[in-house]
Amino acid sequence: MGGQHRIAVIAGDGIGQEVVPEGLRALEMAAKRFDIDLAFTEFDWGCGHYERHGRMMPEDGIDRLASFDAIFLGAVGWPTVPDHVSLWGLLIPIRRRFEQYVNLRPVRLFEGVPCPLAGKKPGDIDFLIVRENVEGEYSEIGGRLYAGTEREMAVQESIFTRFGVDRILRYAFELARSRPKRHLTSATKSNGIIHTMPFWDERVKAMATAYPDVRLDQYHIDILTAHFVRCPERFDVVVGSNLFGDILSDLGPAVTGTIGIAPSANLNPERRWPSMFEPVHGSAPDIAGQGIANPIGQIWSGAMLLDHLGYPEAGAAIVAAIERILKSGRVLTRDMGGSASTEEQGKAIAAEIG
Ligand code: NAI
Ligand code: MG
Repeated sequence: MGGQHRIAVIAGDGIGQEVVPEGLRALEMAAKRFDIDLAFTEFDWGCGHYERHGRMMPEDGIDRLASFDAIFLGAVGWPTVPDHVSLWGLLIPIRRRFEQYVNLRPVRLFEGVPCPLAGKKPGDIDFLIVRENVEGEYSEIGGRLYAGTEREMAVQESIFTRFGVDRILRYAFELARSRPKRHLTSATKSNGIIHTMPFWDERVKAMATAYPDVRLDQYHIDILTAHFVRCPERFDVVVGSNLFGDILSDLGPAVTGTIGIAPSANLNPERRWPSMFEPVHGSAPDIAGQGIANPIGQIWSGAMLLDHLGYPEAGAAIVAAIERILKSGRVLTRDMGGSASTEEQGKAIAAEIG
């Protein structure tokens, strides 16, 4: 690749302000070691911006981001702003306008992190969740009638297009094909949701004909969540709609010990627009401001950013540093049973990268 890479940084709200500096510290260290030219530009958008200006980001916010090579985001949301306002005012417009239709979320059990499941060892749990990120259940189609009266009603439509479903499935099948196990699991609910989910299943079946070398199975979302807890080692790549993928990608990291380490990539695979990298967790108002948030989800998201920019070695070096720090058990944050601060852990990982 080479040349300068311009990264837009949005720390956002709550612990986003605490973990993003650690993510940047790791990125800067990896950039130095691997001789990568990264230029960061910070934007103070989020709920604070909303309180000052009545918007989560300026009106031309999307246009300002469009020329960047990637976006590095912390978390968005604060109790002073309704969650649907903060989400739809920043994160969702970015995902949609930049056609980040893949949300890729790795799940891995590291040595040194206490696992809430009995009898699982590091290596047992190592899979990828591919979440459809721009349509499905998270749609603006619908509305309310007779608001505030006894006849009040709300309707919310799910949108599943052949174009949208096929492109996420193609990505998931390709990803499964690239891994040693070549195993793809589809999350469905075609027994209860009788229009969109049978359609999803049909498209899965049609797409599978192009991937005879990929072992395919599918589960209804309810029993799939049970399998995530009882036998997570069964999975390799799991694909789901926007809502199902969202739920699975909180559950997956939770069974590996803490949601605080889980990263995600919102990808525009065609690279027409910037992709966005952010931890799976939110702004955690319950622990914000205390300096105890786990920065690993943010740091690992930085590794995914480097992968995407064409520096897989630098990305792997960050993940290896995380792995070594966790294994040493030296500097663990409270959610992993330790007493290290966000900054102490971030600095230890950065030193390990260097
Ligand atoms: P959350 O992920 O912020 O917190 C859930 C629980 O996990 C809390 O007990 C929190 O303390 C803990 N936790 C989360 N991240 C952690 C970390 N790095 N280290 C240690 N513990 C951690 O989810 P919640 O409470 O549902 O949402 C809080 C706010 O965040 C809401 O405004 C919500 O809308 C927003 N949110 C934003 C997301 C985003 O920006 N992508 C994603 C999820 C929620
Ligand atoms: Mg979520």
